Amino acid sequence: MDKFIIEGGANLKGRIKIAGAKNGSLALMPATLLASGTYHLKNTPNLRDVWTMSRLMGELGAFCELNGNDLFIDTTKADKTIAPYEQVKKMRASFYVLGPLLARWGEAKVSLPGGCAWGPRPVDLHLKGMKKLGAEISVENGYVIAKAKSPNGKLKGGHIHLDVSSVGASGNILMAATLAEGITTITNAALEPEITALGRFLQDMGAKISGLGTSTIEIEGVDELHPADVTTIPDRIEAATYLIAAAMTGGHIELQNVNPYHLAAVIDKLEESGCELDINSDTISLKMDKSPKPTNVTTAIYPGFPTDVQAQWMSYMMLANGSSHVVDNIYYDRFKHAPELSRLGADVDVVDNAAIVTGGKALSGATVMSSDLRASASLVLAGLAAKGETEVLRIYHLDRGYEAMEEKLTKLGANIQRLKTELI
Ligand code: EPU
Repeated sequence: MDKFIIEGGANLKGRIKIAGAKNGSLALMPATLLASGTYHLKNTPNLRDVWTMSRLMGELGAFCELNGNDLFIDTTKADKTIAPYEQVKKMRASFYVLGPLLARWGEAKVSLPGGCAWGPRPVDLHLKGMKKLGAEISVENGYVIAKAKSPNGKLKGGHIHLDVSSVGASGNILMAATLAEGITTITNAALEPEITALGRFLQDMGAKISGLGTSTIEIEGVDELHPADVTTIPDRIEAATYLIAAAMTGGHIELQNVNPYHLAAVIDKLEESGCELDINSDTISLKMDKSPKPTNVTTAIYPGFPTDVQAQWMSYMMLANGSSHVVDNIYYDRFKHAPELSRLGADVDVVDNAAIVTGGKALSGATVMSSDLRASASLVLAGLAAKGETEVLRIYHLDRGYEAMEEKLTKLGANIQRLKTELI
């Protein structure tokens, strides 16, 4: 198990390129199961979750080859419909294969993903959607068994209202509906750019979809789809993480290959906290030369402030002279990083789904433990800003979602090293 050793205090300076969106790729990859053939997914981030999805696709008979950031997928021999627990347990996004398998083959057996580090993350809306599309669903031995009720094995279009605007359920239902008979309408659909990008990819594969990027998406089912190539959109969460890293270290950086439009809520809060930003069509520069102002954030569905940046913001606010409120309205328990961040010397109190961060004291390096992907990122950021050495343990969480983080930070002047450690 690897760990990072960070010697804090360097001001981050320079230019880096942001990778393709992890959560974009994890939706695009299963979509290729909808049509037999070969695909080229450009700008795919080379990180652990993509490798996990590649292995799961392999279990389903598809061949995935990641060459740098070019992912080639061949689904010509993908005719298996069982997604085993061993793969699904590693990553919840594996559940995305349910919709494509069911739509293409009329049946699927997909392991339930189970809990996650910060509490329950149900899949009831995915299942509700598949039922509305004419599937019979049962849960046996930890697996969801789904079967199209229609004798021809086809799903049927229907109206699905999502009680919660779920990213995963919207993506899964969107993929399933492309091959269903008739028209499907999803209301309260996710607005997240990764879902819009998935919809555009499906359109390129021949799907008939309207309303992408709005809360009502309409899909007119077609008999078959065909392969297409796609370029993955930039990772807005990775970009936000590096912007906050620069803000925390009195830095001056430029990010390339970003979509500033996808980052509007984060940019707004960075400006409110005192950063100077310069924004162009696909670059963002940030300069910070003072302590941040205490700045409250409340996470919300897109285009609101992302829950995936909540932990990093909490870390940032440890440097602000005063108290800030960091409220998570998407995941009420996503605060495992709070006690670890406190170990660097700030006061962080969590009450229900809100953290009150009282900062302003100098942070001092400590040994801290990662509990999940974004929590790990928040600990790295705190280590960069702290005086002395910080050890961030269990960074395999971080490797799930950040491509070559220590290389990018080193390029920006950080003093960070990856060390192999014994199992702890
Ligand atoms: N929800 C339900 N029932 C469901 C599905 C979701 O009640 O069937 C609830 C969840 O409990 C949560 C809310 O809906 O309260 C939103 O969850 P959503 O389904 O939107 O999340 P997800 O699709 O499981 C994706 C990202 C997450 C990100 C969330 C929210 C991927 C692969 N994952 O998860 O990314 O936090 O959307 O934006 O796209 C990360 O990258 O670190 C990460 C966790």
